[in-house]
Amino acid sequence: MAQTWDELIQQVKDRLDIVEVISEQVVLKKKGNNYWGLCPFHKDKNPSFCITPHLGIYKCFSCGEAGDALKFIMKTKNMEFKDVIIELADKFGLEIPTTHKSSGTSTKEIKEQMLAATMVAAEYYHDLLIREKDANATIALKYLTKRGIGSDIIKKFHIGIAPKAYTVLYDELKKDFSNEILEKAGLIIKSEKGGYIDRFRNRVIIPIQNENGDFVAFGARALEADQNPKYLNSSDSLIYNKSKLLYGLYTAKDSIKEEDSVVLMEGYFDVISAQAHGIGNCVASCGTSLTAEHVKLLSRYTKSRRIYLSFDTDSAGQKATARGAEIIKDVFAGLGDIKQFDESYVSSDKDKYACEIRVIAPPEGKDPDEFVRSVGADAYKMYMENAPLFIDFQLNNILKNRGKISSPQEKAQFVKQIIPILAEIKNRIIRSEYIDMVAQTLGTDPNAIRTEMRIFERANIPQTERIVKNVTKNDSVLKKAQKNLLSVFLVSDSPFTFTQISEIMGDIEFDDEILIIVKSTIDKLICTVNNVKELIEHLYTEFIENPEAQAILPQLVATAEVYKGLSEEDFENVIRETIDKINHCRQMKETEEIKSLYKGISDDDPEALKIQIQLRDKIKKRQKIGEY
Ligand code: UTP
Ligand code: MN
Repeated sequence: MAQTWDELIQQVKDRLDIVEVISEQVVLKKKGNNYWGLCPFHKDKNPSFCITPHLGIYKCFSCGEAGDALKFIMKTKNMEFKDVIIELADKFGLEIPTTHKSSGTSTKEIKEQMLAATMVAAEYYHDLLIREKDANATIALKYLTKRGIGSDIIKKFHIGIAPKAYTVLYDELKKDFSNEILEKAGLIIKSEKGGYIDRFRNRVIIPIQNENGDFVAFGARALEADQNPKYLNSSDSLIYNKSKLLYGLYTAKDSIKEEDSVVLMEGYFDVISAQAHGIGNCVASCGTSLTAEHVKLLSRYTKSRRIYLSFDTDSAGQKATARGAEIIKDVFAGLGDIKQFDESYVSSDKDKYACEIRVIAPPEGKDPDEFVRSVGADAYKMYMENAPLFIDFQLNNILKNRGKISSPQEKAQFVKQIIPILAEIKNRIIRSEYIDMVAQTLGTDPNAIRTEMRIFERANIPQTERIVKNVTKNDSVLKKAQKNLLSVFLVSDSPFTFTQISEIMGDIEFDDEILIIVKSTIDKLICTVNNVKELIEHLYTEFIENPEAQAILPQLVATAEVYKGLSEEDFENVIRETIDKINHCRQMKETEEIKSLYKGISDDDPEALKIQIQLRDKIKKRQKIGEY
């Protein structure tokens, strides 16, 4: 049945789960009924970003950004309201009214065709290889066998071969797909002569699947030693975003959940070898370094957020390890301690830590692919079981060079490198243990290290933002009271109907421009909505183009929470007292204004008398209100 646009909006809203929507982009921690995380709209060091799921809203108590799931999507994906609704309607399989359907090919249709083309290409390349249909296939099979990759693994990872010739794939696919789609999917490129040629040639093809198993891109390994680059990767496209996708995740998902941990590796073949040899929970980024988006993606699969870094042991790999650990720490900053000590020190509580970072670095100095094939998967697993925490790994890396120390100055230099690492340990006992350990290893006085640490910490007090730095802190008492009064409409279990509340409130006036708009919109809406939830939802939609008004809503909702569970009598009292307070504040404000006028005038000025009379009137009036 055809439905109206407004009905569609409502249906989309009904199906949206704000926690699900936001957790795709923000790591969340549940506290009571709410979820907290680092605000994605400003640089947040402590979680100031709060979601109230039963009201379907979010709010950052630090920067003030607030809204509902739809607004979140609009802001973070930079999309128009209409486009968000259409995209979600598509996702939920809802019918879009013809009046709002876009003409021409929709993005959704383009994406679908790109996915189809990429899948056909993956199958085609794979088929060429396993059936040895191409001259290159034999060479590629030999190459893969040499790398320990047999036909089972080739099939599991859909590995293929791109022939040397220029248009093999294009000739195959142009029957079914337009040039535009093939080019958008990164399968063909314009040739210098005009016309199109295949993008990948003379390469082993590693198809890349997204979380759902769709083929979205390719990594292509050179077959010959002098072929550059070693890996040619698909560029980002409508269906592929490198910084949000991890190679191997689709096949690793279950194992990551089961092991409650994930191993991050560097290369495609590291993941292929490891997964093929029974290390199922490993993934790699695709020709790009680790991003915060990758880490957030992983945190959805591991409860304990135990992440092993298993990079190459060369110096580039070491840098990647340090950088990776920093990114992981940043993502989880403020969500709890990072696990920085072993169970043997203090009993561990699974949910206590924001994350746990360990490093797998076999001394043999091989990448995981080589290690698993030459030393074996069991040995690798043993290294995994005994993988040091990142902090121990860092300390060992520094301390192992202690043999080079030949002067007090050099020793001090060592301590200086170590102090920032130790300063990250929050637990005082563990910190103290580490200090003693370091002091003993370096042969220095632990108390001297402690003193140096205090100096370091004093100089580096983090600019901690208060968790709840309410944006209302600059509001005047009068404005606050007026907001409180409005919030009475939003109390979900209020003993009064909207009309009754309106009556009790009478025709109280508001003197802030935004509050006037909010009040008049509430007055308008309460005639049509059935309950508070609907009222809040409609208010958000009404204010979609008025961010200032929209930003006030979560504040009202928060206050309304405080008014929950009141009896009829108490509820009415709250309203009346708030009105009194507003009137009182207004009087005070006026009095202050008159007084300030009076200040500049001498007593014998005729104006002074007038003001004095006004002032007396005001004070009298105020006393009368007080008697009420
Ligand atoms: P490595 O150079 O360590 O490659 O790059 P590898 O995985 O050990 O490859 P093999 O074993 O020699 O075949 C690690 C990762 O960096 C990206 C790829 O994702 C690769 O798997 N990379 C590397 C590129 O994207 N382009 C390159 O030219 C090189
Ligand atoms: Mn490597």
